[in-house]
Amino acid sequence: MNSHIRFDADEGALHLLDQRLLPEAEADVVCRTPDDVIDALKTMVVRGAPAIGVTAAFGCALAVRCAVARGGDAARRRLEADLERLAAARPTAVNLRWAVERMRGVWRAAEAGEDLPLAELQALFDREATAIQREDEALCRRMGRHGAELLRDGDCVLTHCNAGALATAGYGTALGVIRAAVEQGKRIRVIADETRPFLQGARLTAWELAQDGIPVTVACDNACAHLMSRGMIQAVVVGADRIAANGDTANKIGTMGVAILARHFQVPFYVAAPLSTIDAATPDGAGIPIEERPAGEVTRMGGRRITPEDVPVYNFAFDVTPAGLISGIITEAGVLRAPYGDAIAAARRGAEGGGALS
Ligand code: MRU
Repeated sequence: MNSHIRFDADEGALHLLDQRLLPEAEADVVCRTPDDVIDALKTMVVRGAPAIGVTAAFGCALAVRCAVARGGDAARRRLEADLERLAAARPTAVNLRWAVERMRGVWRAAEAGEDLPLAELQALFDREATAIQREDEALCRRMGRHGAELLRDGDCVLTHCNAGALATAGYGTALGVIRAAVEQGKRIRVIADETRPFLQGARLTAWELAQDGIPVTVACDNACAHLMSRGMIQAVVVGADRIAANGDTANKIGTMGVAILARHFQVPFYVAAPLSTIDAATPDGAGIPIEERPAGEVTRMGGRRITPEDVPVYNFAFDVTPAGLISGIITEAGVLRAPYGDAIAAARRGAEGGGALS
């Protein structure tokens, strides 16, 4: 798959593969302003924690272009407001704010007391956003190599939602682990939970893996207990949108149920995520904000209404899996094991020492 997030600096445009149309059609949405990017994030043209971080970083690069074009005294204040709106486009995935903060850090460092001409900031933002994109794919590959050691030849791995190339700059977190195991020569089969209501598993995970020739079978979300009870799953690997300091992990709604079942049936349950998904400022899962999405995602399917007109629905986009149900957190720095508070703090210290975290 060519990059699904493609920034054209000369054109001042961000081309995003429209994930809402997959697997039926492949078409781009073109963003030229921060508002275009915010709309793309909110409506799930692009989704997945690391991918929305990369997208928001390019959104900052577009915001500075708009500020240069606008000019005037208010341009800097307006740019600051645009960055904040980008960071707030979706509340749960911490990579989004992490990426915007990293862009802000570049701005602060370059100003050092004096106002930097915004035209100069443009080049710095372009470079930083491109660096975030490149780093993300590279660290997914590192994460994949660490995680692949946990899978055995012949394993069938269940994954929930899409934590693949489409959810990152490329290669994927959970799917990166599976890809790396396959590259090592292991015969891995995958069960993709369909992932109601947005169907990231059925539409996106199945599409990606089928393109790579990795055997994949789609199962309804509620088939998990049955499949595990029959010994059909040897490991679970999922991604994450935010990991609290104690290891509690927010991921797509339904993930916690899979983790509870995995514990019951003694199937190892792994989370694969970059260190930028760890929110050290949030002590545990209770502090993670959970996005609620429009009711229409639940009430309608294939253009048809599937619930009675006046019945309300819940559409929580994420849930929080308690750290105690997680067998290991696979990061670019290695596989973290319980107690996660200590392991996370040590991994972050190591990454800060190497300059990888801000
Ligand atoms: O609502 P989404 O599709 O953005 O949710 C995505 C997930 O929950 C993924 O599992 C998570 O972001 C990890 S992506 C590598």
